[in-house]
Amino acid sequence: MSPQSLDLRPAPGLMDTLAEQPLDPMLMVLHLLRNDPRPDKIDLGIGVYRDDSGHTPILQSVKAAERHLIETQTSKDYLSPEGDAAFVAALAPIVFGTEPDDTAWGMQTPGGTGALRLAAALLHRTNPDCRVWIGTPGYVNHAMLMQAASLEVIEHPFFDKPTQTLLFDAMMSALNEVRRGDAIVLQSGCHNPTGVEFSHDQWQVLAQFLNDRGVVPVLDMAYQGLGSGLDDDAWGLRHVLTQVPEALVCVSGSKNFGLYRDRAGALWVQGSNPNSVRRARTNLNLMARTLWSMPPDHGAAVVRIILTTPQLNALWRSELDVMRERLTGLRHDLATAVPEFETVKRQSGMFSLLPLDRDQVTRLRIEHGIYMVESGRINIAGLNQGNLPVFASALRSVL
Ligand SMILES: Cc1ncc(COP(=O)(O)O)c(C=O)c1O
Repeated sequence: MSPQSLDLRPAPGLMDTLAEQPLDPMLMVLHLLRNDPRPDKIDLGIGVYRDDSGHTPILQSVKAAERHLIETQTSKDYLSPEGDAAFVAALAPIVFGTEPDDTAWGMQTPGGTGALRLAAALLHRTNPDCRVWIGTPGYVNHAMLMQAASLEVIEHPFFDKPTQTLLFDAMMSALNEVRRGDAIVLQSGCHNPTGVEFSHDQWQVLAQFLNDRGVVPVLDMAYQGLGSGLDDDAWGLRHVLTQVPEALVCVSGSKNFGLYRDRAGALWVQGSNPNSVRRARTNLNLMARTLWSMPPDHGAAVVRIILTTPQLNALWRSELDVMRERLTGLRHDLATAVPEFETVKRQSGMFSLLPLDRDQVTRLRIEHGIYMVESGRINIAGLNQGNLPVFASALRSVL
């Protein structure tokens, strides 16, 4: 081989083989928002609670628990892949309304996302052919988390954006295709992104169906207390658990404790008997070990202190009431200001999916400095008494 024919260019590296990935739509909104110099821009994108001044506060109950934690914590030794068992025990009655019996067992996870990821891993381990049904439109990460565990995802209708209607009949007819051993992801209360909720009757029909057809519910509750109250928001979840032998319950403390970055969450398994739950526990321990080894402690410790200290528990509940009432009030105000969107006041929680198309969302951003997810999802908590009239008049101008 002559020296001229030698290819001296460096061989492509491993990273060169990667396909460029699109920016997450949420991060795209954030990027555009941060680069918008307009001082009166309105952020209805990111899904975090905001107070009337647009700030995401640290709850007073959290601050007090953190102070207590710093004064009393004597070690940062490892806990275990199961995390803080006392946190899980303190959270259980909030989630289930009662103490779970020996056919249910829970562990701490890094946020609700960790719980969902571990639930997906368990589903795959128990049945690699399990298909996971997810309503559309839904929380974008649900499908990605299930697929990350090599599970097949099948979408079913859930909500019609133009008419703002929950498509229960269409959903049930699509679900007719389920196979025994499939799973379904269901949000209990404060649906992200639509804010709609099954009626009690619909939960009953659905729970019966899941039991009859042997479908495992993955119940995701990320906004408990921010819709209609701690018990009401958990009604569907609790009802389903009474009707089916096996279920997975994923809970997030990110929103209702305002602990977003501290990653406090939990996963419970409900099994048909104590032995199957014990087996699930050993498998979950092993899988958590290879996913994150141990969950971060701080957020869960804070929740444990709040829930086990009567004064802080009461303070937290009153802070949650304030957040919920603020969201409900804003929904009413928006529906009054823009009667075309009166359905917003019948929805609950942090989000609504407004019947806007992509052009209208773009015009709101460019002409009015109003930021929301491209789908038309708004974070109700991003509104306040100052910007709500501005938002309402901008909405009217693009309708
Ligand atoms: C429906 C739903 N489930 C789960 C999560 C995950 O919550 P976390 O931040 O605790 O991981 C979110 C977060 O936005 C969510 O909206």
